Amino acid sequence: MAKNKIKILVIDDDPKVSWILSEGLSKKFEFVSARDGIEGIQMVSTEKPDLVLLDIKMPGMNGIEVLEKLNKLEDRPEIIMVSGHGETQYVVDSVKLGAAEFINKPFDVNEIEIHINTVLEKTELKKEVSELKTKLEVKHSYDTFIDDSVAMQKVKSVIEQVSDSELTVLIRGESGTGKEIVARLLHNLSSRSGEPFVKVNCAAIPRDLLEAELFGYEKGAFTGAHKMKQGRFEVAHKGTMFLDEIGDMPLELQSKLLQVLEQQEFVRVGGVQNIHVDVRIIGATNKNLEQAIVNKEFRDDLFYRLNEITLLLPSLRVRKEDIPLLVNHFVKKYEESYKKEIVPISQEVMNQLVSYGWPGNVRQLENMMKQVVVREDETIIADLLASSGNQVLSSNSSNTVSTFSIPQVADNSQPDSYSLKTIIGEKIAFEEKKLISEVLHKTNWNRRKAAELLEISYRSLLYKIKDYSLNSTK
Ligand SMILES: Nc1ncnc2c1ncn2[C@@H]1O[C@H](COP(=O)(O)OP(=O)(O)OP(=O)(O)O)[C@@H](O)[C@H]1O
Ligand SMILES: [Mg+2]
Repeated sequence: MAKNKIKILVIDDDPKVSWILSEGLSKKFEFVSARDGIEGIQMVSTEKPDLVLLDIKMPGMNGIEVLEKLNKLEDRPEIIMVSGHGETQYVVDSVKLGAAEFINKPFDVNEIEIHINTVLEKTELKKEVSELKTKLEVKHSYDTFIDDSVAMQKVKSVIEQVSDSELTVLIRGESGTGKEIVARLLHNLSSRSGEPFVKVNCAAIPRDLLEAELFGYEKGAFTGAHKMKQGRFEVAHKGTMFLDEIGDMPLELQSKLLQVLEQQEFVRVGGVQNIHVDVRIIGATNKNLEQAIVNKEFRDDLFYRLNEITLLLPSLRVRKEDIPLLVNHFVKKYEESYKKEIVPISQEVMNQLVSYGWPGNVRQLENMMKQVVVREDETIIADLLASSGNQVLSSNSSNTVSTFSIPQVADNSQPDSYSLKTIIGEKIAFEEKKLISEVLHKTNWNRRKAAELLEISYRSLLYKIKDYSLNSTK
């Protein structure tokens, strides 16, 4: 398939500039032009150019002001500043504001082509790195999700089955059982993984601010609304919206949420225009929503719409097989982040950890292991367990709250989930290896630079190079 031509927007009050560029370079690039800053800013949204050539000296808004305005956009194209004679004092301002290059007028068309290509190559590399980052995140979230117990393997199998569907998922479970990590995994394993994952904690935002936070507001909608602001639903466009503690959403906002679920549209606070969004919604709660419906605190129609799939996360005390794996996982995690190495947890201490009741579930276990690593002393565990309320239970005790059963999936015809797990794991490893070697190649095997671009630590890059047997001669 023929690749679309790179589109370049020229913002310059002198029409000769875009004419000269089109004459010289139209075989390679498509040019569109704007004669002043205001038109230019509009065309960045309507034309979606790959690159902007921006003149500094223009009547009305000058190039620096235009650059400042363009910086406010979510995802702006790269910008090359073009300046007339004697305007070099603007170079520093432009660079500070993130312009990619600076060209002096009068320019030579061949010279400008070199600048354009340099910027486009950098953009391409950035894009590849961001894709690689997404793939690494996906792999990481998949690899670090502990599911040794049969109960959690069932949870993971449901996640794999429903992640790439558009079904709404309601994740339920006690505090600290992993509701957020499950929501992220659902997003990461879906085709939306390169798009935003936006989390809003409905209980943490004051009631009267939540509507503006979720749906945005128009200028003048209320005192202090000096300019229009996008809501989190707009930021989540094409991605996933994770509504944490959804049981705490005020009743008056629930109907607006229902409208987003049913029509994928809403109106900003103080606005009249419908805003369309393509967002997958995942909710989480540890509240008894059925009771909230009886108490008229939660709409039943919203409950059924949110609940196309329910994932009920078991508490840690009913899946004790996961405890040793979680312990080792958290020790390794905090050893890496605190650059420490502790002696392995003894069998005796591990037995104590397994017997404990864990009212705070995985989060409580994680916090404890963090302290053990920081203080490099496993003997503190006995004290920590005692001060946490001595909740030691027999290993098969089920006398504590276990209203959360194992999830049911509507479709039982799904084949063995383990093969899917293996396939995903292998595919991701293959992509990871390929992209790491590409970045190493592009940086001439400058490992520090490559680690920086990949946004992983130098140490983990070295580990991965060894793991994948990569070397500079390949
Ligand atoms: N299966 C798991 N594997 C690895 N880490 C886990 C797992 N489950 C939970 N964790 C870790 O435990 C911590 C708590 O998990 P999370 O924040 O997802 O819980 P939660 O159910 O959302 O809790 P809360 O209701 O209090 O918000 C996180 O740091 C998470 O990464
Ligand atoms: Mg949470």
